[in-house]
Amino acid sequence: MKKINVFLAIVAFVALAVSCEKADPYGYTIKNNQIVYNTPERPADQQSMLGFAAEPIENVRVGLIGLGDRGTGAVWRMPFQEFATVVALCDLYPDRVERAQQVLEQLGAPRAIHEFSGEEGYKQLCECDDIDLVYLAVPWQLHTPIAVYAMEHGKHVAIEVPAATSIKECWDLVNTSERTRKHCMMLENCCYDFFELNCLNMIQQGLFGEIVHVEGSYCHNLDPYWDGYQGDWRMIYNRAHHGDVYPTHGIGPICQDLNIHRGDKMDVLVAMDSDAFAGQAIADKRYGDGAYEYANGDHTTTTIRTRKGKTILVEHDVVTPRPYSRMYQVVGTKGFANKYPNEGLALGGSNMEIVAYDDLDAEEYMSDNERDVVMEAYKHPIIAELEEVARKVGGHGGMDFIMDYRLFYCLHYGLPLDQDVYDAAEWSSLVELTEVSIKHGSMPVVMPDFTRGEWDKTDGLKFATAE
Ligand SMILES: NC(=O)c1ccc[n+]([C@@H]2O[C@H](COP(=O)([O-])OP(=O)(O)OC[C@H]3O[C@@H](n4cnc5c(N)ncnc54)[C@H](O)[C@@H]3O)[C@@H](O)[C@H]2O)c1
Repeated sequence: MKKINVFLAIVAFVALAVSCEKADPYGYTIKNNQIVYNTPERPADQQSMLGFAAEPIENVRVGLIGLGDRGTGAVWRMPFQEFATVVALCDLYPDRVERAQQVLEQLGAPRAIHEFSGEEGYKQLCECDDIDLVYLAVPWQLHTPIAVYAMEHGKHVAIEVPAATSIKECWDLVNTSERTRKHCMMLENCCYDFFELNCLNMIQQGLFGEIVHVEGSYCHNLDPYWDGYQGDWRMIYNRAHHGDVYPTHGIGPICQDLNIHRGDKMDVLVAMDSDAFAGQAIADKRYGDGAYEYANGDHTTTTIRTRKGKTILVEHDVVTPRPYSRMYQVVGTKGFANKYPNEGLALGGSNMEIVAYDDLDAEEYMSDNERDVVMEAYKHPIIAELEEVARKVGGHGGMDFIMDYRLFYCLHYGLPLDQDVYDAAEWSSLVELTEVSIKHGSMPVVMPDFTRGEWDKTDGLKFATAE
């Protein structure tokens, strides 16, 4: 009898576990040694945001939340935007709000009308009637909750990177944007850097042939910066999580090159990390020997295969003293580009008359001079238009200005944004997917489809223009 009871208890426990797994619409099951993520059906009151354009906004009234390092940088850039005005400022600390007001004054812009502070000041900001866009530069775990609250209160949102820290949060952004018909753009500034945009232009004009493989990374020794994050949020997050916790600078531009969810989709991912040799030493130095076990591997490597047979490599390393690199490498059947450490280009079979180099067998890059001639000839129209002012205003050399400009330009003219909510979800999804792969011994992960089957309904990435 006792044995039967134990047996029944085990059966009940297994049934409960299975039903719990099934009950999570955003979760995964393990089948044939693969982690397979669910793609829940779209609720009846939602519509796809692919190609979505909102009503034009003459002057975009911006509410900025999070005025630390990055948010204050945004305040310095905003007065140079012709289609936007900062009307509200919010931070945990009132003195950071006042500091931002003084930046506006210093640049000859009006002080923001609204000021909010404290843990929940963001709610008051989102509830204002005279704000069109909420611009977020807060710690990672606050991105999605605040963005959802803002969209629920009728605001478009622009969110710093990564937009979400879990698959559930990625779906929260997608579902809320689809239901409220509000834009949700992640502020992936690296998509607007000069070399990346010019290469995108060349790729779109066929100079690289078929793209076969792409690489991107965030390799940045954060040693000089750890003390600057409010409340130590970044170190606390990294010491608690395996995986590529900051994937979007690396993956953003290369997903655009591959037309991800505009003709192709990321299918299967595998992640692996090294031990935390440097990371543990940093934690020991900061908090005392052995106070914390530092989880995040010093070097995290992720590979992804797409539905159309392309491969992607993404890396993350913020603790070793290696030189800065976002890698940005594009391998095509007729061309090759690599950004770090030196911008290099090799093209073959494109019959360009502007440079002598046209040799796939050269086994070396074209000369710097030839590269410059090609880059000038194939300058992306956005770079051609904005390069001068972008370099003057700055923000990572100008790409931050271009990103803001494109956001406000598209809102002003009522155009689809360059990056949509599916980009935000797909690129940010690596945070959880890489951690789960690593926790299961680098098991392959079948990625969710945030477009719910519409990844091939759009014919390539286009940056909308008013003309
Ligand atoms: N795209 C880029 O190149 C880039 C560069 C740096 C940082 N970032 C991103 O920007 C974001 C902010 O990073 P940071 O370096 O400025 O960090 P930070 O710690 O300097 O700033 C965060 C700010 O958010 C405020 N804050 C915290 N809780 C809040 C709340 N409840 N309401 C309002 N404000 C609150 C803090 O007081 C602080 O001023 C992060 O997501 C980061 O990944 C992006």
